[in-house]
Amino acid sequence: MTDDLLLVHGGNPLEGEIQIRGAKNLVPKAMVAALLGQGPSRLRNVPDIRDVKVVRGLLQLHGVTVRTGDEDGELILDPSHVESANVADIDAHAGSSRIPILFCGPLLHRLGHAFIPGLGGCDIGGRPVDFHFEVLRQFGATIEKHPQGTYLVAPQRLHGTKIELPYPSVGATEQVLLTAVLAEGVTELRNAAVEPEIVDLICVLQKMGAIISMGTDRTILITGVDELGGYNHKALPDRLEAASWACAALATKGDIYVRGARQIEMMTFLNTFRKVGGAFEVDDEGIRFWHPGGELKAIALETDVHPGFQTDWQQPLVVALTQANGLSIVHETVYESRLGFTGALNQMGAHIQLYRECLGGTPCRFGARNFRHSAVVSGPSKLIGSELVIPDLRGGFSYLIAALAAEGTSTVHGIDLINRGYENFMSKLRDLGAHVELPAEQPVTV
Ligand code: EPU
Repeated sequence: MTDDLLLVHGGNPLEGEIQIRGAKNLVPKAMVAALLGQGPSRLRNVPDIRDVKVVRGLLQLHGVTVRTGDEDGELILDPSHVESANVADIDAHAGSSRIPILFCGPLLHRLGHAFIPGLGGCDIGGRPVDFHFEVLRQFGATIEKHPQGTYLVAPQRLHGTKIELPYPSVGATEQVLLTAVLAEGVTELRNAAVEPEIVDLICVLQKMGAIISMGTDRTILITGVDELGGYNHKALPDRLEAASWACAALATKGDIYVRGARQIEMMTFLNTFRKVGGAFEVDDEGIRFWHPGGELKAIALETDVHPGFQTDWQQPLVVALTQANGLSIVHETVYESRLGFTGALNQMGAHIQLYRECLGGTPCRFGARNFRHSAVVSGPSKLIGSELVIPDLRGGFSYLIAALAAEGTSTVHGIDLINRGYENFMSKLRDLGAHVELPAEQPVTV
C-alpha cells in the first residue's frame, strides 16, 4: 500500500496554524451513548478519524441510523430501531478498536444480550478488560467468553451496585456510566477516572436525562432512570492532539497556533511545556505554541491519571526532551510498555536509557513487575533521518516529530495508523510547511 509509507525530509521548523476538532477519546463514546436514547442524538465537532468510522459501522450493524448533519463535523444518530447484529458482521470489526467493549451496557439494556469481538487499540501494554467484565457482572450480567469474542446476557434488568475500581481506569469508568444510567437503583462508583473526556461524557448523559453527580475523591453517584432521550452536544476539543502539535513545534524549533485547543483541559501539559522552556499564549480561539530560542531544559516527569500528566502526552514530549540540555527522567505509570518506541529514537541519534525501576517519583504498579517503564533522556542530541516503523498511535506521531526535527530524510512505514486518531494529519503537516512526500508523488516543498 503506497500511502502507508511516508518520506519525511527533516530539519525545518513547523510554522503556521492548524485546527483541531472533537476528542478521539470522547467522540466514539458519545456515539455509543446515543444507543441508550429513545430519540435521535446530534453530535457536533466530530473529527474524520478511523475510530469514528469503526463505531459508526458497529452502530449501523445494530440498527442505528447514522448520517452527517448540515454542519461540518455533525453526526445525527437515530437509535429508534436497535436490533441484534449478525455475529459474523460484528466479528469483522474484531481488532479494529477498543471501543466495542463499551457497547456492552447499552446493548444489554436495549436487547438483553450483546456480543463483543476481540479488541484492538494500541500495543502499549497488556490492556486487559478484567475491570469491565467484573463491573458488568456486578450489574447482573452473565458473561461467556468464546474464541471469537464475548457473549453477555442480562437475564433481567441490570441493577445499580457499589463498585470500587482497582485503578481509575478511563474505559471501566465509562463502562460503569453507560451501564448505570439505565440500571435499576443507585450505583456508587469509587476510584473513578475523572479525565475531561469522562466529564464530557457525563454531560452528554445528563443531557439525555441521566442523573449523575461527581463527588470528591473520585466518587461518582448515578441514579438509574427508566428512559433516556437523545442529546445535542459539541464534543470537547482533542487535548491530546493539541499537545502533539505543541511538541512538534518545540522539537522542530517551530511556532504552531492550534485553533480549538483549550487551556482548561491542558493546564498540566502547559506547566510542563513551560518548564521545558517552551512558550505558549492562550486566546479565546486556541493556543499558540512555540520554541522561544535558546536551550530547552531537562525535567523530571511522571505520567498519571488526570489531573496528572497524561500518558498520551508522554511520547511526543520525549522527542522534544531529546533536544533539552541535561538529563530528563520520565516515569510512565499508566501503561507498562509505553516507552518501547524510544529504541527507534536512539537509532536516530537520541540517548535514551530504559529502566525497570520507578525512577524519580512515587513507586508505581510496574516497579516490582519487571517492566521497563522509566527512561533517562540525555540531551541535546542531533537526530539523523532513519527508517522507522510506526508502533502505535502516539508513538507513531512522535516518530513523525522526530523525523521532522532530524537532519536528512526518514522513511516512515505504517503511516496509516496515524489516521486512527489524527484528522487530516498529512494536510496539516503540509500547511505547517513540512517537507513530506508520499512515494507516488513528486517531492512537496510547501
Ligand atoms: N486496566 C486494567 N484492567 C482493565 C482496564 C484497564 O488493568 O479492565 C489498566 C490498563 O492496562 C492500564 C490502566 O488500567 O494500565 C489504564 O487503562 P484505561 O482503562 O484508563 O485506558 P483505556 O480506557 O483503555 C483510554 C484511552 C487511551 C488513554 C487511556 C488513559 C480511549 C479509546 N483510550 O484507554 O488513549 O491512554 O485511557 O488515559 O479512550 C490514545 O489516545 O492513544 C490512547 C491510548
